[in-house]
Amino acid sequence: MPLVTTKKMFEDAYKGNYAVGAFNVNNMEIIQGIVQAGEKLNAPLILQVSAGARKYANHVYLVKLVEAAIETTGLPIALHLDHGPDFETCKSCIDGGFSSVMIDGSHYSYEENIALTKKVVEYAHAHGVTVEGELGQLAGIEDDVNVSEEDASFTRPEEVEDFVTRTGVDSLAIAIGTSHGAYKFKPGQKPQLRFDILEEIGKRLPNFPIVLHGASSVVPEFVEQINKFGGQMPDAIGIPESMLRQAAGMAVCKINIDSDLRLAMTAAVRKHFVENPTHFDPRQYLAPAREAIQGMVEHKIKNVLGCDGKANI
Ligand code: G3H
Ligand code: 13P
Ligand code: ZN
Repeated sequence: MPLVTTKKMFEDAYKGNYAVGAFNVNNMEIIQGIVQAGEKLNAPLILQVSAGARKYANHVYLVKLVEAAIETTGLPIALHLDHGPDFETCKSCIDGGFSSVMIDGSHYSYEENIALTKKVVEYAHAHGVTVEGELGQLAGIEDDVNVSEEDASFTRPEEVEDFVTRTGVDSLAIAIGTSHGAYKFKPGQKPQLRFDILEEIGKRLPNFPIVLHGASSVVPEFVEQINKFGGQMPDAIGIPESMLRQAAGMAVCKINIDSDLRLAMTAAVRKHFVENPTHFDPRQYLAPAREAIQGMVEHKIKNVLGCDGKANI
């Protein structure tokens, strides 16, 4: 089976009231851990690559690793550009074999965002590739862009129909209170998502897939393990998984998870070195790191996404 686009995945997810996980990948062990979880639970997967990941691992290496994942499992997998910063990066991913791209024009003016997104959609659709756009701005850090809480802004429901119609995007990322990274709320602050905005957007865009970025829950068990084995992340806090599950039952069809994978992997490596200070073979610490990724993704598929058994193979 070749790479799939997100089209059918999202149609099924919308109808089935679940979401597909979009997991960020940077190397072989991360890809293998995610894919082993998908295989075990027969779940569709979106493997997404940021501009930073492309720079770190090399575009061709990542494409070939994902092709290997499909060849060995037969799972429906979409390879997606996460936070495409400009037309050139999107074009390079489309030409280089990705099946889906995001163009993130959320930090531009509304009209500039529309013009840029439309240009990417025209090129992508001519090449059979699906496109995610974004309206509204999340707080947090992605690549070199750091958006402060004051500069973040919720998506305005009154803009979504116009944006989707004029750009032709296949899915839309919205800002309803999630944010990138492991520090989503201040200590003592109550985590909240604007379900009222999500509901209003769902009414204005019937049957249209919505995407949530910044959707790691910063699972406390892994933060504790990081801190127990010498890390210092006492104030890390994410979105409660029950809220994400609720969103997946609404119009949200894609949930982006990166920080939780980073936490799981780092916790496993830290634990390994504290317990085995004399080990120096990378396989000895990358194997438990890969297992930790698999465990995290299985947990997300069952408890947050609800997409187990939905791979239709
Ligand atoms: O939203 C951003 C993702 O977590 C990717 O992070 O740009 O550091 O690869 P990165
Ligand atoms: P987290 O930092 O919450 O994992 O979000 C990841 C993301 O949105 C990737 O685009
Ligand atoms: Zn994101």
